Amino acid sequence: MPATKLDGKALAATIRGEVAAAVAARAATGKRPPGLAAVIVGDNPASHVYVRNKHKACGDVGFASWVHTLPGDTTQAGLLEVVEKLNRDPAVHGILVQLPLPKQIDEDAVLRSVSPSKDVDCFHPENVGLLAAGHPRFYPCTPHGVVQLLHRNGIVTAGKEVVVVGRSNIVGKPQALMLMQKPTKANPAGGDATVTVAHTRTRDLAAVCRRAEILVVAAGALHAITPDMIAPGATVIDVGMHSVNGKLTGDVHPGAADVAGALTPVPGGVGPMTIAMLLVNTLAAAEQIDGV
Ligand code: GUN
Repeated sequence: MPATKLDGKALAATIRGEVAAAVAARAATGKRPPGLAAVIVGDNPASHVYVRNKHKACGDVGFASWVHTLPGDTTQAGLLEVVEKLNRDPAVHGILVQLPLPKQIDEDAVLRSVSPSKDVDCFHPENVGLLAAGHPRFYPCTPHGVVQLLHRNGIVTAGKEVVVVGRSNIVGKPQALMLMQKPTKANPAGGDATVTVAHTRTRDLAAVCRRAEILVVAAGALHAITPDMIAPGATVIDVGMHSVNGKLTGDVHPGAADVAGALTPVPGGVGPMTIAMLLVNTLAAAEQIDGV
């Protein structure tokens, strides 16, 4: 039997509807709309597509949103000045600096320059620390999207063997933290799972992956996970995104659908959830800054 499709596109639409309802309720009490400012440096085509999609999603739920497009030769001081202005702007509740940045710019310094209270990507070390300590201010968008895909599809994570493939700061590392943590009132997206993190230096990756009841793949490598690496019936979440002959595909080989119990499609799985969770974070930032 082919794997059940975990439809991120449909769930993201539901979550966007929840955000839009909250924005309308805020407006009814005279509050200004949540505002998201995106900053993009240079002309990386994929980054421009991502930012355009985020900007459109903001408009659809009633947010204010701005895109600051800076030339590829922008200096670090020039970029820091733009971020500083956004930090001070009361109409801006969330700031997103699209990565990657050109080589002349110190990415770490820029991420640290974003006010932690407006850091809706959850990349600032203060917010990473709060997440690690189990008192998150925000959850990072892609890992939170994965947790929502699991929980809202009734896939229990508590006590499960989870393998996360990839150890990036954006996905693998925070994903492992979230899935291992205890869910509490302050940290409702905890997963209570037994988590293994695999990466490029892992010995016998196939054997490690076959241990997983839930396999989250953020390897950044086309079709790195083949059907023989998946335990029959496992839930497989594919965070990868690659364009092959103009078609999008993931880190998981399409043959996985014949082995897995449930699988996210690419496109239409994790991707739309990332944007939905960015909206959730921007709404949360507005509520933290302006009050609910
Ligand atoms: N580049 C790739 N993914 C992301 C993301 O989630 N946020 C930002 N700011 N840049 C990215």
